[in-house]
Amino acid sequence: MTKKPILISGIQPTGNLHIGNYLGAVKNWVDLQNSGKYRMFICIVDLHALTGNQSAEEVKKNTLNLAIELLAAGIDPKKTTLFVQSHVTGHTELAWLFNCITPLGELERMTQFKDKSSRQMKNINAGLLTYPALMASDILLYQSQRIPVGEDQVQHVELTRSIARWFNGRYGDYFTLPEVVLTNIPRVKSLQEPDKKMSKSHGEKNYIALCDDPEVIQNKLKKAVTASEGGMGSQGVQNLLGLLKEFGEKDVYEMYLKQEKDGTIQYGNLKKDLAQIISDTFSDFRVERKKYLSNQRRVLTILKEGAKGAQKVADKTLKEVYRLVGLR
Ligand code: AMP
Ligand code: TRP
Repeated sequence: MTKKPILISGIQPTGNLHIGNYLGAVKNWVDLQNSGKYRMFICIVDLHALTGNQSAEEVKKNTLNLAIELLAAGIDPKKTTLFVQSHVTGHTELAWLFNCITPLGELERMTQFKDKSSRQMKNINAGLLTYPALMASDILLYQSQRIPVGEDQVQHVELTRSIARWFNGRYGDYFTLPEVVLTNIPRVKSLQEPDKKMSKSHGEKNYIALCDDPEVIQNKLKKAVTASEGGMGSQGVQNLLGLLKEFGEKDVYEMYLKQEKDGTIQYGNLKKDLAQIISDTFSDFRVERKKYLSNQRRVLTILKEGAKGAQKVADKTLKEVYRLVGLR
């Protein structure tokens, strides 16, 4: 029997899943998982989240909440190893080895580092800088060949490839270079500032959470920036049309696209229809989420089992790597 290619991805426990996470990553994870072609690992990266400003209680709460939301979105623990990064030893150890072969300049030029440091001026910690070495460790610890992520993470996966190359060059050919897997819509834009990506950290009004109630979605879309409201407007409209293309029926999308070209489009109608379509798409999610919320013990068991499975793979890699670098 040929072995299935390994596929890993990670997500930070920093708040509720939003439609940017969903269209850029999570939907793809569920599809890839259900294709049966891969051995899948999904990692809730709580150690990465410590580079931000969350309190201990927030990190804990958000980690469980994210597990619940991933399960509700279709991650199936029978098919995917779902686990929390800090529950598996090895991630930080391999990251240290990678820190020792990664040139400082490569870390300093990362867009996410520059972006996050400018947004948390009072907390530019060393973890923000070395973040990509930890991410490379998440990937290479599992010898993953494919990495399904949104566009904002492409630079980090490219650095992971370089780290694998530097390691192989110094210690012998060991790591396979992983490749990015993108979706049709790898960068969903913010509703309020459509020149930026939709993000949990830019405030509630800029994103639609998967768990948002229909009225909340209507309200957020009503206030979304479109052409009539300023310079960024046309990017806003393109973003909404992109969402309609992903979530809606083809004929509805084509109708609005035609109206946009003709100049007859009514943005109010587009927003109302889109809100309805998005609410309908996630009605099952909202039900499933409530079920898991009332059975948190089950979620904790799933994470425990996941960590056990991941640990076996991590132990094997780390043992071999320690031998290669001369520590054993
Ligand atoms: P994060 O929530 O930042 O940990 O991101 C989790 C996953 O969602 C990563 O694969 C990101 O690339 C993806 N992602 C986050 N925001 C967006 C967005 N606005 N558009 C597309 N993908 C995104
Ligand atoms: N850095 C990613 C983000 O912010 C999350 C992440 C951590 C990740 N480790 C990973 C993604 C490994 C893919 C593979 O979204």
